[in-house]
Amino acid sequence: VAEMNSEKPILVGVIGGSGLYKLDMEIVTTVNPETPWGFPSSPITIAALPSGTQIAFLARHGVNHSVTPTEVPARANIAALKSLGVQVIVAFSAVGSLREEIAPGDFVIPNSIIDRTKGIRPSTYFQDVGIVAHAMFGDAFDNELLAFIKPLVKKVLDEHPEGSVKMHSEKTVVCMEGPQFSTRAESEMYRTWGGDIINMSVLPEAKLAREAEISYAMICTSTDYDCWRVSEEPVTVAEVVKTLHKNASTSKLITVSILDHLHEAIASQSLKLKAKGNMEYSIITKK
Ligand code: ADE
Repeated sequence: VAEMNSEKPILVGVIGGSGLYKLDMEIVTTVNPETPWGFPSSPITIAALPSGTQIAFLARHGVNHSVTPTEVPARANIAALKSLGVQVIVAFSAVGSLREEIAPGDFVIPNSIIDRTKGIRPSTYFQDVGIVAHAMFGDAFDNELLAFIKPLVKKVLDEHPEGSVKMHSEKTVVCMEGPQFSTRAESEMYRTWGGDIINMSVLPEAKLAREAEISYAMICTSTDYDCWRVSEEPVTVAEVVKTLHKNASTSKLITVSILDHLHEAIASQSLKLKAKGNMEYSIITKK
Protein backbone atom coordinates (compact mmCIF):
# COMPACT_ATOMS: atom_id res chain seq x y z
CA VAL A 1 0.00 0.00 0.00
CA ALA A 2 1.76 3.10 -1.32
CA GLU A 3 0.92 5.53 1.49
CA MET A 4 2.00 3.19 4.27
CA ASN A 5 5.34 4.29 5.72
CA SER A 6 7.72 1.37 5.26
CA GLU A 7 10.35 2.94 7.52
CA LYS A 8 7.88 2.89 10.39
CA PRO A 9 6.31 -0.56 10.38
CA ILE A 10 2.88 -1.09 11.86
CA LEU A 11 3.55 -2.82 15.15
CA VAL A 12 0.37 -2.03 17.04
CA GLY A 13 -3.21 -2.96 16.21
CA VAL A 14 -6.18 -1.48 18.02
CA ILE A 15 -9.52 -3.28 18.08
CA GLY A 16 -12.48 -1.06 18.90
CA GLY A 17 -15.54 -2.48 20.63
CA SER A 18 -19.06 -1.15 21.14
CA GLY A 19 -19.04 2.65 20.77
CA LEU A 20 -15.47 2.82 19.44
CA TYR A 21 -15.72 2.67 15.66
CA LYS A 22 -12.87 5.05 14.77
CA LEU A 23 -9.94 6.84 16.41
CA ASP A 24 -9.08 10.56 16.58
CA MET A 25 -6.06 10.18 14.28
CA GLU A 26 -5.12 11.10 10.74
CA ILE A 27 -6.26 8.39 8.36
CA VAL A 28 -3.42 7.29 6.09
CA THR A 29 -5.29 4.64 4.15
CA THR A 30 -7.80 1.84 4.50
CA VAL A 31 -7.09 -1.79 3.65
CA ASN A 32 -9.35 -4.83 3.55
CA PRO A 33 -7.14 -7.93 3.39
CA GLU A 34 -8.85 -11.21 2.52
CA THR A 35 -7.49 -13.98 4.74
CA PRO A 36 -7.94 -17.77 4.52
CA TRP A 37 -10.73 -17.19 7.10
CA GLY A 38 -12.47 -14.50 5.05
CA PHE A 39 -12.58 -10.72 5.44
CA PRO A 40 -12.24 -8.92 8.80
CA SER A 41 -15.29 -7.39 10.53
CA SER A 42 -14.44 -4.02 9.02
CA PRO A 43 -11.82 -2.65 6.68
CA ILE A 44 -8.68 -1.79 8.64
CA THR A 45 -7.78 1.87 8.98
CA ILE A 46 -4.10 2.71 8.97
CA ALA A 47 -3.92 5.81 11.15
CA ALA A 48 -1.02 8.09 12.03
CA LEU A 49 -0.11 10.00 15.17
CA PRO A 50 1.49 13.48 14.80
CA SER A 51 4.91 11.78 15.34
CA GLY A 52 4.36 9.69 12.21
CA THR A 53 3.77 6.45 14.13
CA GLN A 54 1.28 4.36 12.23
CA ILE A 55 -1.15 1.93 13.78
CA ALA A 56 -3.89 -0.33 12.44
CA PHE A 57 -7.46 0.07 13.65
CA LEU A 58 -10.26 -2.49 13.29
CA ALA A 59 -13.90 -2.10 14.42
CA ARG A 60 -14.85 -5.48 15.96
CA HIS A 61 -18.55 -5.13 15.27
CA GLY A 62 -18.14 -3.35 11.92
CA VAL A 63 -18.23 0.44 11.48
CA ASN A 64 -22.05 0.47 11.68
CA HIS A 65 -22.18 -2.09 14.50
CA SER A 66 -23.75 -4.80 12.34
CA VAL A 67 -21.75 -7.84 13.51
CA THR A 68 -22.98 -9.64 16.67
CA PRO A 69 -20.40 -10.91 19.21
CA THR A 70 -21.14 -14.50 18.15
CA GLU A 71 -20.62 -13.65 14.46
CA VAL A 72 -17.37 -11.65 14.79
CA PRO A 73 -14.93 -13.25 12.30
CA ALA A 74 -12.21 -13.32 14.94
CA ARG A 75 -9.86 -15.60 12.97
CA ALA A 76 -9.98 -13.23 9.99
CA ASN A 77 -9.55 -10.19 12.26
CA ILE A 78 -6.42 -11.51 13.95
CA ALA A 79 -4.99 -12.90 10.69
CA ALA A 80 -5.61 -9.57 8.90
CA LEU A 81 -3.77 -7.63 11.63
CA LYS A 82 -0.95 -10.21 11.60
CA SER A 83 -0.62 -9.78 7.82
CA LEU A 84 0.12 -6.08 8.40
CA GLY A 85 2.98 -6.91 10.78
CA VAL A 86 1.16 -6.19 14.02
CA GLN A 87 2.96 -7.58 17.11
CA VAL A 88 0.73 -6.13 19.81
CA ILE A 89 -3.04 -5.73 19.98
CA VAL A 90 -4.72 -3.33 22.37
CA ALA A 91 -8.39 -4.26 22.33
CA PHE A 92 -11.24 -2.22 23.79
CA SER A 93 -14.51 -3.66 25.06
CA ALA A 94 -17.59 -2.46 26.88
CA VAL A 95 -18.24 -4.61 29.95
CA GLY A 96 -20.78 -5.07 32.69
CA SER A 97 -19.58 -4.86 36.29
CA LEU A 98 -19.98 -7.75 38.73
CA ARG A 99 -18.51 -5.74 41.64
CA GLU A 100 -19.85 -2.79 43.59
CA GLU A 101 -16.51 -0.96 43.41
CA ILE A 102 -16.41 -1.06 39.59
CA ALA A 103 -18.93 1.63 38.64
CA PRO A 104 -20.28 2.43 35.18
CA GLY A 105 -17.74 4.77 33.53
CA ASP A 106 -14.74 3.10 35.24
CA PHE A 107 -11.97 1.47 33.18
CA VAL A 108 -10.65 -2.03 33.89
CA ILE A 109 -7.54 -3.82 32.64
CA PRO A 110 -8.21 -7.52 33.33
CA ASN A 111 -5.53 -10.17 33.80
CA SER A 112 -7.65 -13.32 33.52
CA ILE A 113 -10.66 -14.76 31.70
CA ILE A 114 -13.46 -17.23 32.46
CA ASP A 115 -14.83 -18.77 29.26
CA ARG A 116 -18.62 -18.93 29.14
CA THR A 117 -18.94 -18.88 25.36
CA LYS A 118 -20.85 -21.88 24.11
CA GLY A 119 -18.31 -23.52 21.82
CA ILE A 120 -20.01 -22.17 18.70
CA ARG A 121 -17.32 -19.61 17.83
CA PRO A 122 -14.41 -20.92 15.75
CA SER A 123 -11.64 -20.39 18.30
CA THR A 124 -8.47 -21.95 16.93
CA TYR A 125 -6.35 -21.87 13.78
CA PHE A 126 -5.44 -25.52 14.42
CA GLN A 127 -8.60 -27.23 13.22
CA ASP A 128 -9.03 -29.27 10.04
CA VAL A 129 -5.44 -28.46 9.06
CA GLY A 130 -3.75 -31.72 10.08
CA ILE A 131 -1.68 -30.02 12.76
CA VAL A 132 -2.30 -30.43 16.50
CA ALA A 133 -1.16 -27.58 18.73
CA HIS A 134 -1.96 -26.57 22.30
CA ALA A 135 -1.22 -22.94 23.07
CA MET A 136 -0.46 -21.96 26.67
CA PHE A 137 -3.19 -19.73 28.03
CA GLY A 138 -2.61 -19.75 31.80
CA ASP A 139 -1.83 -16.05 31.61
CA ALA A 140 -4.59 -14.99 29.25
CA PHE A 141 -3.03 -11.59 28.56
CA ASP A 142 0.62 -10.65 28.06
CA ASN A 143 1.74 -9.67 31.58
CA GLU A 144 4.67 -7.60 30.29
CA LEU A 145 2.33 -5.67 28.03
CA LEU A 146 -0.15 -5.16 30.89
CA ALA A 147 2.63 -3.85 33.14
CA PHE A 148 3.72 -1.46 30.38
CA ILE A 149 0.31 0.00 29.52
CA LYS A 150 -1.20 0.20 33.02
CA PRO A 151 0.69 3.30 34.26
CA LEU A 152 0.24 5.01 30.88
CA VAL A 153 -3.53 4.42 30.88
CA LYS A 154 -3.79 5.43 34.55
CA LYS A 155 -2.06 8.74 33.84
CA VAL A 156 -4.53 9.56 31.04
CA LEU A 157 -7.49 8.65 33.27
CA ASP A 158 -6.15 10.61 36.27
CA GLU A 159 -5.69 13.68 34.07
CA HIS A 160 -9.00 13.40 32.19
CA PRO A 161 -10.16 16.94 31.27
CA GLU A 162 -13.66 16.28 32.68
CA GLY A 163 -12.36 14.91 35.99
CA SER A 164 -10.40 11.81 36.85
CA VAL A 165 -11.72 8.39 35.79
CA LYS A 166 -11.15 5.34 38.01
CA MET A 167 -9.01 2.47 36.73
CA HIS A 168 -9.00 -1.10 38.08
CA SER A 169 -6.55 -3.87 37.25
CA GLU A 170 -5.83 -7.50 38.19
CA LYS A 171 -9.46 -8.37 37.46
CA THR A 172 -11.15 -11.37 35.85
CA VAL A 173 -13.42 -10.94 32.85
CA VAL A 174 -16.18 -13.48 32.21
CA CYS A 175 -16.84 -13.88 28.48
CA MET A 176 -20.43 -15.01 27.79
CA GLU A 177 -22.06 -15.95 24.53
CA GLY A 178 -24.97 -13.54 24.29
CA PRO A 179 -26.61 -11.82 22.56
CA GLN A 180 -29.02 -11.87 25.53
CA PHE A 181 -27.60 -10.58 28.80
CA SER A 182 -27.27 -12.93 31.83
CA THR A 183 -29.99 -13.95 34.26
CA ARG A 184 -29.69 -12.77 37.84
CA ALA A 185 -28.79 -16.33 38.90
CA GLU A 186 -25.98 -16.51 36.32
CA SER A 187 -24.71 -13.08 37.30
CA GLU A 188 -24.61 -14.12 40.97
CA MET A 189 -22.85 -17.37 40.00
CA TYR A 190 -20.12 -15.48 38.10
CA ARG A 191 -19.52 -13.38 41.21
CA THR A 192 -19.00 -16.51 43.33
CA TRP A 193 -16.61 -17.82 40.67
CA GLY A 194 -14.45 -14.73 41.04
CA GLY A 195 -15.62 -12.85 37.94
CA ASP A 196 -15.28 -9.07 38.24
CA ILE A 197 -16.57 -7.90 34.86
CA ILE A 198 -18.46 -9.50 31.98
CA ASN A 199 -18.46 -9.10 28.22
CA MET A 200 -19.14 -11.05 25.02
CA SER A 201 -15.95 -10.23 23.14
CA VAL A 202 -12.62 -11.11 24.74
CA LEU A 203 -12.90 -14.67 23.38
CA PRO A 204 -11.87 -16.14 21.08
CA GLU A 205 -9.92 -12.97 20.20
CA ALA A 206 -7.38 -13.36 23.02
CA LYS A 207 -6.86 -17.07 22.27
CA LEU A 208 -6.36 -16.49 18.56
CA ALA A 209 -3.92 -13.66 19.22
CA ARG A 210 -1.91 -16.09 21.38
CA GLU A 211 -1.88 -18.69 18.59
CA ALA A 212 -0.80 -15.97 16.16
CA GLU A 213 2.02 -14.97 18.57
CA ILE A 214 0.59 -11.48 18.97
CA SER A 215 0.72 -9.95 22.46
CA TYR A 216 -2.76 -8.97 23.54
CA ALA A 217 -4.22 -6.71 26.23
CA MET A 218 -7.75 -5.51 26.77
CA ILE A 219 -8.90 -2.15 28.09
CA CYS A 220 -12.45 -2.59 29.35
CA THR A 221 -14.93 0.23 29.79
CA SER A 222 -17.66 -0.44 32.32
CA THR A 223 -21.16 0.50 31.17
CA ASP A 224 -23.53 -1.14 33.70
CA TYR A 225 -23.90 -3.30 36.81
CA ASP A 226 -25.26 -6.31 34.88
CA CYS A 227 -28.19 -7.68 36.95
CA TRP A 228 -26.79 -9.11 40.21
CA ARG A 229 -27.80 -6.10 42.33
CA VAL A 230 -31.23 -7.26 43.52
CA SER A 231 -32.45 -3.78 44.42
CA GLU A 232 -31.78 -2.49 40.89
CA GLU A 233 -33.42 -3.08 37.53
CA PRO A 234 -31.45 -5.52 35.31
CA VAL A 235 -29.12 -4.08 32.68
CA THR A 236 -30.81 -2.49 29.65
CA VAL A 237 -29.35 -1.58 26.27
CA ALA A 238 -30.33 2.07 26.88
CA GLU A 239 -28.17 2.13 30.03
CA VAL A 240 -25.24 0.58 28.18
CA VAL A 241 -25.46 3.05 25.27
CA LYS A 242 -25.64 6.09 27.58
CA THR A 243 -22.27 5.30 29.14
CA LEU A 244 -20.73 4.07 25.87
CA HIS A 245 -20.27 7.53 24.38
CA LYS A 246 -18.26 9.06 27.21
CA ASN A 247 -16.22 5.85 27.48
CA ALA A 248 -15.49 5.99 23.73
CA SER A 249 -14.10 9.52 23.86
CA THR A 250 -11.94 8.56 26.85
CA SER A 251 -10.73 5.50 24.92
CA LYS A 252 -9.72 7.77 22.02
CA LEU A 253 -7.71 9.94 24.45
CA ILE A 254 -5.96 6.81 25.74
CA THR A 255 -4.97 5.65 22.26
CA VAL A 256 -3.58 9.04 21.25
CA SER A 257 -1.57 9.20 24.49
CA ILE A 258 -0.14 5.69 24.77
CA LEU A 259 0.44 4.40 21.25
CA ASP A 260 3.65 6.36 20.55
CA HIS A 261 5.20 5.01 23.78
CA LEU A 262 4.04 1.50 23.00
CA HIS A 263 5.30 1.58 19.42
CA GLU A 264 8.67 2.89 20.58
CA ALA A 265 9.01 0.24 23.28
CA ILE A 266 8.27 -2.55 20.80
CA ALA A 267 10.57 -1.14 18.11
CA SER A 268 13.47 -0.69 20.55
CA GLN A 269 12.73 -4.11 22.11
CA SER A 270 12.71 -2.54 25.57
CA LEU A 271 9.32 -4.19 25.95
CA LYS A 272 9.91 -7.92 25.85
CA LEU A 273 6.81 -9.40 24.26
CA LYS A 274 5.75 -12.73 25.76
CA ALA A 275 3.73 -13.92 22.76
CA LYS A 276 6.59 -13.90 20.27
CA GLY A 277 7.81 -17.45 19.74
CA ASN A 278 5.32 -18.90 22.27
CA MET A 279 4.03 -21.48 19.78
CA GLU A 280 7.50 -22.94 19.16
CA TYR A 281 6.90 -25.94 21.43
CA SER A 282 3.11 -25.99 21.13
CA ILE A 283 2.85 -28.03 17.96
CA ILE A 284 2.67 -31.74 18.69
CA THR A 285 2.41 -32.98 15.13
CA LYS A 286 5.75 -34.30 13.84
CA LYS A 287 7.38 -32.25 11.10
N1 ADE B 1 -21.32 -5.66 27.71
C1 ADE B 1 -21.68 -4.55 28.38
N2 ADE B 1 -22.43 -4.85 29.46
C2 ADE B 1 -22.54 -6.19 29.48
C3 ADE B 1 -23.19 -7.11 30.33
N3 ADE B 1 -23.85 -6.70 31.39
N4 ADE B 1 -23.10 -8.43 30.03
C4 ADE B 1 -22.41 -8.86 28.95
N5 ADE B 1 -21.78 -8.02 28.10
C5 ADE B 1 -21.84 -6.70 28.37
